[in-house]
Amino acid sequence: MSRFITFEGIDGSGKSTQARLLADYLSGKGTKVFFTKEPGEGELGEAIRNEILDRRDIKIDPYAELCLFCADRAQHVRELILPKLEDGYTVICDRYYDSTLAYQGSGRGIDPDLVFRMATASSLGVEPDITFFLSIPVEQALLRLKDREKERNKMDEEPFEFHSRVDGGYRELIAKGIPRIKVIEASLSPEDIHMEIRRFFE
Ligand code: ADP
Ligand code: TYD
Repeated sequence: MSRFITFEGIDGSGKSTQARLLADYLSGKGTKVFFTKEPGEGELGEAIRNEILDRRDIKIDPYAELCLFCADRAQHVRELILPKLEDGYTVICDRYYDSTLAYQGSGRGIDPDLVFRMATASSLGVEPDITFFLSIPVEQALLRLKDREKERNKMDEEPFEFHSRVDGGYRELIAKGIPRIKVIEASLSPEDIHMEIRRFFE
């Protein structure tokens, strides 16, 4: 049975760690798992990721940034997510269109209706079955980023206020009571968080 699982949260919330732990757990149970992330999968995705997150020599307009994240997603869905779902895989994706709503809508302050239309259109109708939102105070998440070995990107370097607005955007989304979104307490140890998430697969 194919399933589409996404992970969301502010930078440093521990999503990538949890997405990988779940992928390992489900693979260990014999499930066919395809692990992926946004942005940056596939050849086009890598090129787009590089332009948005790594290049320091151009100042990207927020609307252009929105279009680029959506372009990355449309290609990702068509090229990888959809074929894997059709092939019976459980697809685990580190970030999906909720990130666009929170980062480009609330973070950058672009008209939420426009962001919603573009973000949903870019998913080509492919909706997650379940989304784990890792809930953590912004201060704590940013402290974790300081210690992370991975190189920092342009988004990680945004000020506290930006990450706070992104967090606010996620909270607004959660307040809508969308059934697929499960809020997970993310201040705990990686193992304890993983056990919380596992409960949804027992
Ligand atoms: P994200 O993908 O949300 O940006 P990561 O999974 O990359 O977050 O984690 C960010 C940093 O915090 C990494 O250095 C990681 O090892 C560490 N980390 C992840 N989960 C936890 C946790 N539950 N407690 C403490 N540190 C964590
Ligand atoms: P990444 O290094 O993958 O960070 P993380 O491990 O926290 O996911 O960087 C991706 C960045 O891009 C992250 O700061 C969130 C941002 N982003 C958007 O602004 N809009 C989007 O639609 C997506 C998918 C990501």
